Amino acid sequence: MRTYTTNAQLQRALRDKRVQGQSIAFVPTMGNLHEGHLDLVRKARELCDVVVVSIFVNPMQFGQNEDLDAYPRTLMADKEKLFAEGVQVLFAPTAEEIYPEGLGVQTAVSVPVLSDTLCGASRPGHFTGVATVVTKLFNIVQPDVAVFGEKDFQQLSIIRKMVRDLCLPIKIVGVPTARAEDGLALSSRNGYLTEEQRKRAPELNRILMEVRDAIACGFDNYAELEAHARLKLIQAGFEPDYFEIRDARTLGEVTTDTEEVAILAAAKLGKPRLIDNVRLALNPVEDWGMLATR
Ligand code: PAF
Repeated sequence: MRTYTTNAQLQRALRDKRVQGQSIAFVPTMGNLHEGHLDLVRKARELCDVVVVSIFVNPMQFGQNEDLDAYPRTLMADKEKLFAEGVQVLFAPTAEEIYPEGLGVQTAVSVPVLSDTLCGASRPGHFTGVATVVTKLFNIVQPDVAVFGEKDFQQLSIIRKMVRDLCLPIKIVGVPTARAEDGLALSSRNGYLTEEQRKRAPELNRILMEVRDAIACGFDNYAELEAHARLKLIQAGFEPDYFEIRDARTLGEVTTDTEEVAILAAAKLGKPRLIDNVRLALNPVEDWGMLATR
């Protein structure tokens, strides 16, 4: 595995691979890699000849009171994991390499509407920071395919829209959320949980699944389901930020056109803020009728 820290070095190396006709899959990360990231890497390996992983803790997506300085940086351990997965290229730039003129004068990419809701509502500017750095990384790496986790479902939706809107010639692939045996979605932030909080953390996924089951059984008073779920989260010791049932395609309200719902939640458990989501395809009523007559 070769590690590059500058755009120019990386681009030179990738140009040679492209000339040899090799396809490139890209997995952008902020490091502190766990099984969830490695699932993305495995999917990338299935799809292309060369896998490029970036590790860059992007200052532009952290708010002023967020954990940029405390964000775990574990480059040596991350390198070992990537090497063991057969990754050929690691890009680990400095903040100066990505933002040579600083953040104050940086051109920004902002994806309207989708970025303003859910996590975007409580983390203003966060998704502009994500969309901007992902655009830069896409331009530096110029991959054929880029792989993202479905755990950050809103982020994935925003990147898909950005790629469509800006006509970027990159296929975006989503990978299902990797979970611990008790259902907790794997996240770098799980490392901040105390032993006691870690035991309670899977409750977030359990409540999401309970709501999914209720919808699957035909319960369609979404406001009531959301309020009930928020209450259950509080009872389990969480401080809910949101618990929302949305159209999985638009992330807006569920309408009669909705084909799939996404049930999304963010909640603090002590210091760490955990997010998770589950989805459910809605069967149009006519389908039930057709099934019944079959
Ligand atoms: O999901 C992440 O780790 C980050 O938001 C990303 C996509 C690497 C951009 O910094």
